[in-house]
Amino acid sequence: MARARGSERDAVNASVGGDPVERLRAVVAGRLGLRFDEDQTSILAQVLERRLAAGQEGCKAYLARLEAGPPRLELRALARELTVAETYFFRNADHFRALREVVLPQRLRAPAAARRISILSAGCASGEEAFSIAIVVRETVADPTWEVSIRGVDVNPAALEKAERARFSSWSLRETSQETKRRWFLEEGSEAVLEESLRRAVVFEERNLAEEDGELWQPASHDVVFCRNVLMYLTPECAQALVARISRALAPGGYLFLGHAETLRGLSADYHLRHTHGTFYYQRRQSGELPAPPAASAAASPAELVPVLAAAVAASDTWVETIRRASERIQALCRPAQRPASTGGRPSPGWDLGRALDLLRRERFAEALAEIQALPAESARDPDVLLLTGVLRAHSGQLPAAEETCRRLLALDELNAGAHYVLALCREGAGDRQGAVEHDQVAVYLDPAFAMPRLHLGLLARRAGDGSAARRELAEAVVLLQREDASRLLLFGGGFGRGALIALCRAEVEASGGAP
Ligand SMILES: C[S@@+](CC[C@H](N)C(=O)[O-])C[C@H]1O[C@@H](n2cnc3c(N)ncnc32)[C@H](O)[C@@H]1O
Repeated sequence: MARARGSERDAVNASVGGDPVERLRAVVAGRLGLRFDEDQTSILAQVLERRLAAGQEGCKAYLARLEAGPPRLELRALARELTVAETYFFRNADHFRALREVVLPQRLRAPAAARRISILSAGCASGEEAFSIAIVVRETVADPTWEVSIRGVDVNPAALEKAERARFSSWSLRETSQETKRRWFLEEGSEAVLEESLRRAVVFEERNLAEEDGELWQPASHDVVFCRNVLMYLTPECAQALVARISRALAPGGYLFLGHAETLRGLSADYHLRHTHGTFYYQRRQSGELPAPPAASAAASPAELVPVLAAAVAASDTWVETIRRASERIQALCRPAQRPASTGGRPSPGWDLGRALDLLRRERFAEALAEIQALPAESARDPDVLLLTGVLRAHSGQLPAAEETCRRLLALDELNAGAHYVLALCREGAGDRQGAVEHDQVAVYLDPAFAMPRLHLGLLARRAGDGSAARRELAEAVVLLQREDASRLLLFGGGFGRGALIALCRAEVEASGGAP
């Protein structure tokens, strides 16, 4: 099937009633929630070949059976074939430090009718995550009157069988300290066997996170959910639905850990972002806390002004000052700009930001702000308006006012990466380098494709004399700038175009000692 080409494939498709691999892709997305992009088509084709070889049916009958609702055995076989069960003990060790030092102490203090904490490892694979949680719990919760339940669920039966055995290779323990190994494992040949009482501390179950599962997702039934490195494999619809279930099932004030490369941005506004121990995680809002609105919109690309930017960088102490100085010169240099063809993104309800964006593009910040102030009073709660106001205030040097605007925006939309970036500029302007770094890091975490906080982190590192961090961040910024959305360059680029910003990064990499 995988190797069928051209007319041969058309003939096969016609005989089975549509492209078999596409039909399998749809079933896998619908039933297991797994996303397979175009470049992973060959994986699906190979699995289809293997499943057909393992059974007695032809392709047409097999696909028809899948589409009618795959029998449980077949779904398990597909889950075994198509899920990625890579995991190890204490993966993202910072999460476990946060669990030990923030989350468990906080949950133990929370008023509870029953002295009970429930922790779920959703997508637990072969159990290393759930057992790492069990070790931390055992070492942290000293009071025996507290009952801690730890549950690991996964759709891959082979991974769960491995979890039940609780025997691990040294590879699974590659991030585990010698002390922890000595304390909780027995060596048997090449395997490390988990201590029996810990093995019994975790219950493993075969569950499909893509299904509504009334028992697993009972309202407010979990205090902590680890769902790490799972969302990244799911279709957007399945990820959204799963996050909604987790939100429903997390007790108010409960915690959610996602993988390092995963965020809730665009998926849920039900959480506060927490940033401790050099890592990020989420805390479920208390009922009654403000729900957040959708993210901001933006517009089109500015002119390239490399020499102006280079001069401004050389003459300024801070990036926000650079923007301000360069803006003064750009104002003198700029020809009248075109009105942006489109503001892109989501239209603002009932008011047009086109003119304010046009003025931003032309570096006429005061007029742009006046334009916004003339909008109806309700606009003051529109995230688009707030973000634009914050940017304009920062770019015109009104840093305390910009900061206040961004904080109001974050109260509405806590996962707004743009607001964190503007706050980083404000903090830098106020002489709070650490605060600036933190806000840039939050922006980078929330939106790994956002180039400007990377660029800013690079400049901050260079000014602090950390050449290697500067080169790393700036090199990353160059990559991101090449594909950065034009509208975001207009909004956050400080009046500089893509080419100018890339040239700045390259010059700064050079000046801080060459390639990272
Ligand atoms: C990469 S592992 C992550 C393991 C662990 N959470 C970690 O971060 O180390 C992803 C796991 O998600 C599971 N998974 C994927 N889709 C699932 C679904 N629909 N229901 C349950 N588990 C699923 C896979 O079977 C796999 O074991």
